[in-house]
Amino acid sequence: MISNILGYTTKKGKGMLIVSIIFFTLKSLLNAAMTIVILNMIQNIVSREMNDLLKYWLLLIAIIILKGIFNTIADLAKHLSGFEIAAKIREKVVVRLKQFSLGFYNKERLGEISTIIHKDVDNIEMITAHMWSRMFSDIIVAFIIGGTLFSINWKMGLAMVSFIPLGILLLIFGIKSTTKVEKETQDDLAEMVSLFVEYTKGITLLKAFNKSETFENKLKSSTVKFGESSKKLSKSVAKYLGEYFVFLEISFAIMAIVGAIMVFYNQLTIPNYIIFIIFSKEFYNPFNNIESYWLNYIKVKDSYGRVMGVLNTPIIETTSNPVKISKLDIEFNNVDFSYEEDEFQMKDINLGIEEGSMVALVGPSGSGKTTITNLILRFYEPQRGTINIGGVDIKDIDYDDLLSNISIVMQNVVLFSDTIYDNIKVGNNTATKEEVIKAAKKAMIHDFIMSLPEGYDTKLGENGVGLSGGQKQRLSIARAFLKDSPIVILDEMTSNVDPINERKIQKAISKLAKNRTVIVVAHHLKSIKNADKIVVFEKGKIVEVGNHNDLLEKSGLYKELWDAQKNAHICHLSA
Ligand SMILES: Nc1ncnc2c1ncn2[C@@H]1O[C@H](COP(=O)(O)OP(=O)(O)OP(=O)(O)O)[C@@H](O)[C@H]1O
Ligand SMILES: [Mg+2]
Repeated sequence: MISNILGYTTKKGKGMLIVSIIFFTLKSLLNAAMTIVILNMIQNIVSREMNDLLKYWLLLIAIIILKGIFNTIADLAKHLSGFEIAAKIREKVVVRLKQFSLGFYNKERLGEISTIIHKDVDNIEMITAHMWSRMFSDIIVAFIIGGTLFSINWKMGLAMVSFIPLGILLLIFGIKSTTKVEKETQDDLAEMVSLFVEYTKGITLLKAFNKSETFENKLKSSTVKFGESSKKLSKSVAKYLGEYFVFLEISFAIMAIVGAIMVFYNQLTIPNYIIFIIFSKEFYNPFNNIESYWLNYIKVKDSYGRVMGVLNTPIIETTSNPVKISKLDIEFNNVDFSYEEDEFQMKDINLGIEEGSMVALVGPSGSGKTTITNLILRFYEPQRGTINIGGVDIKDIDYDDLLSNISIVMQNVVLFSDTIYDNIKVGNNTATKEEVIKAAKKAMIHDFIMSLPEGYDTKLGENGVGLSGGQKQRLSIARAFLKDSPIVILDEMTSNVDPINERKIQKAISKLAKNRTVIVVAHHLKSIKNADKIVVFEKGKIVEVGNHNDLLEKSGLYKELWDAQKNAHICHLSA
């Protein structure tokens, strides 16, 4: 996994990580050098040889300055490496997000993705760059110092490590045996959190129905349960860690005792004995931190797993031999489609939309009109059948090419928290200011924009807060004008807009429709009376096709909807 994560960074990132490890190692070795200098100074003072003292002082100052420099370089390199790793992973995730079909983006996934981008990438950055650089340098230092100590006296060396293997064995058993308790604690935590979320979401309802007490008792018992399992986990972790550290201390004690005996029998000099006592601490350092290394490993492994989960999710297939389209008529051939985990089903859809014509999709709410537009845009893939544009299966058209041929005015207009100007420019990034204004004029929104104190520079709140539904839709039409693509998909808003707004929208739409292939999802049938073809949907099926007059004659669902709207209009007028 370590090499996999590092595989996600650039050469520069890897290089920086190595630089930071090297300089942290050098800094730690300088610490050791400093101790040796001090020991020598003490020896000089004890033996009253003052001649070398100045030399040692100068050496000490040099070491301190070098340590400072090395530490700064290591810290800087560590940050740069972390930044490279995080940036590379985020970049990969973002590129991938664009390639998923919209079916990927359900609510849970959106939450998951934001956790991944925020927390998991941060974890990976923190642990790989910041912690691993120290961990690897600690391990290298332990090897160098351990090796040196062994070369000074191998018997003392053996005593120094005597009980470490047993300690590690205990640690491994301990970690394994707590896995079950850990899982229990995590489950209890998840249950408690979901109960809290449910409680806060439904608090008004619970209050209204006087049910909050029962729920509170449930919450209390889940809190107690989580508390119990946490205690159990802490106890078991404390036990194995305690045992492990005792074995490390025993190794140190044995080394101290063996050393004392060897000094007594003149097999070890006192200075070397002191060196063992002092420097064995550096050797034990990584062993003391082994638990935090392990915890970090688990944390980064989980985060890495979640990032990989996103990166390995299947994407919209792209064709390696894209076919260029020259004609723009759209054709559905025996298409079956259903959403993930949803009852709604479209079966055997056959539909032809001629180039340059205007086709209206009508039908009750939830009958599948927006779904048809989603399929043309490959936001979702049909389970059976094909959708062709100009005789070419849309799967064989380069996806960017497909999207560049289609403008969409969506039912739920998506606006960014940016200026009005930039929001219109989404339609065509290379457009000039004049072109943006021209598009806004055609979309009948220019006058409104100019009436705002900051005009085109007015900042919109998230999702266009501050604009009415009709204004949002006209802004979206301006985008379509700017994009100027030959196919236009218009998904009218379901909610009622005021008559003035509606008239403006209608005017803008009829201008936009000129000389283009237009698919319009209409709720107000009056607006599509003149469409070349009206397709009536009901529960995912096409039930009627024809022009306005044909359909009225048929006395089917269209006539029913028409009459209902006419009556509603009359009622509305007479009210
Ligand atoms: N992303 C989705 N995931 C799951 N089910 C969906 C999704 N989008 C729509 N549906 C379901 O598919 C059915 C058809 O939806 P669709 O949006 O095509 O209806 P519509 O005809 O556009 O309705 P409206 O007139 O209300 O806009 C509905 O039952 C809806 O609940
Ligand atoms: Mg819809």
